[in-house]
Amino acid sequence: MLLNKRLIVGVCGGIASYKAIELVSRLQQAGALVDVIMTDHAQEFIRPLTFATVSQRPVYHNLWEPSGQAAELHIALAEQAELLAIVPATANTLAKLAHGIADNMLTAVALATKAPLLLAPAMYKGMYEHAATQVNLSILRERGASIVEPEVGHLASGAIGVGRLPELSVLMGAISMIVGRKGDLAGRRVVVTAGGTQEPIDPVRYVGNRSSGKMGYALATVARDRGAHVTLISGPVALEVPYGIELCKVETAIQMRDAVGSAITDADVLVMNAAVADFRPIAPASRKIKKNETRGSGEQGEFSLYLTRNPDILAELANADYEGSVKRLRRLIRVGFAAETHDVITHAQAKMAAKRLDLLVANDVSRLDSGFGTDTNKVYLFHANGDMEDLPVMPKIDVATAIWDRVVSLLS
Ligand SMILES: Cc1cc2nc3c(=O)[nH]c(=O)nc-3n(C[C@H](O)[C@H](O)[C@H](O)COP(=O)(O)O)c2cc1C
Repeated sequence: MLLNKRLIVGVCGGIASYKAIELVSRLQQAGALVDVIMTDHAQEFIRPLTFATVSQRPVYHNLWEPSGQAAELHIALAEQAELLAIVPATANTLAKLAHGIADNMLTAVALATKAPLLLAPAMYKGMYEHAATQVNLSILRERGASIVEPEVGHLASGAIGVGRLPELSVLMGAISMIVGRKGDLAGRRVVVTAGGTQEPIDPVRYVGNRSSGKMGYALATVARDRGAHVTLISGPVALEVPYGIELCKVETAIQMRDAVGSAITDADVLVMNAAVADFRPIAPASRKIKKNETRGSGEQGEFSLYLTRNPDILAELANADYEGSVKRLRRLIRVGFAAETHDVITHAQAKMAAKRLDLLVANDVSRLDSGFGTDTNKVYLFHANGDMEDLPVMPKIDVATAIWDRVVSLLS
């Protein structure tokens, strides 16, 4: 998504400026052309050579360079940029930006550019909470700047409080999201379900499955980076919540059904990627079941668990009532997933017909390089007109891109 994008990273004189080195390196590795502009005070912390090395481009800092080239250049940089991200943004630079002061290369470019502005403030909590900084941030926010809020944590001063620069993944997420704001899903609302459900047996045990959530989280991230507003309905997973995504956490199939029902009322697309349990225990115990308790036949050492069918969310959506209520708002594109261990194609074709989907993604979860927990996936795409595509094994992020490509065609 960041390939060949022209980005400016502005670095100010804060203690977190060293974290901008890793950020620039990651952006460069993602294929972006990154121009770094440092304030004079940033150079008290880090030398320009470090940024020049990781960005593989010259670093700008001196507006007063005698040949006048830098002064000319700051206009060119401002015009070409697709995003100006200031990481870290000091209280001092925030104040200058809020009041249109342009007394160095960074603030001059910030005033000259029409590119979106992303600010990642990082400072001692007293500076951050000060009324002056808060007013400056609201001025900038009202003017359209995106602010990545600082985190609460251990600060360089030794204190614990708000002011820490967020993790790299958050900064990368915010940058990707802003750069992709005008993508081919701009203005679309999409709902993605991810992970597996957990059906309680008692307060400490559940019936679950091996879904890691990686495919669903990749789908949500790619949609965000193509401009969509994303609601991610997720079962319990051990994954970081992608930046800028509305997360709705659920545990059981019934909770997921209810969450999907309310999320799709104004959605354009529903991607049902979650591995929803087909069955749940009929009567979960209200207290922890002890080892010596028996159930069912009552024989020594045996324990029977009685299960009942869970609602089939996609099948419910295929029935007339649901579709009627959704149709009144917008046509909903429905994408289903099928996890199969055998006869993948036959089972997928049957599911496609039964649930009246626009697209069905079938994966063979018996393969080592595909399905639950892996970073790659091997999928077949089944289209409503009967066409089938056999995609090669790919990273899940690329599978997600291929799926959204098909959905974009359906939307248009
Ligand atoms: C060791 C040290 C650490 C500092 N850390 C921060 C910081 O994290 N955030 C901040 O806003 N200012 C911090 N400052 C203050 C700024 O460096 C100072 O306000 C400076 O004028 C900022 O200049 P600039 O905004 O042009 O980079 C620090 C100063 C020193 C000496």
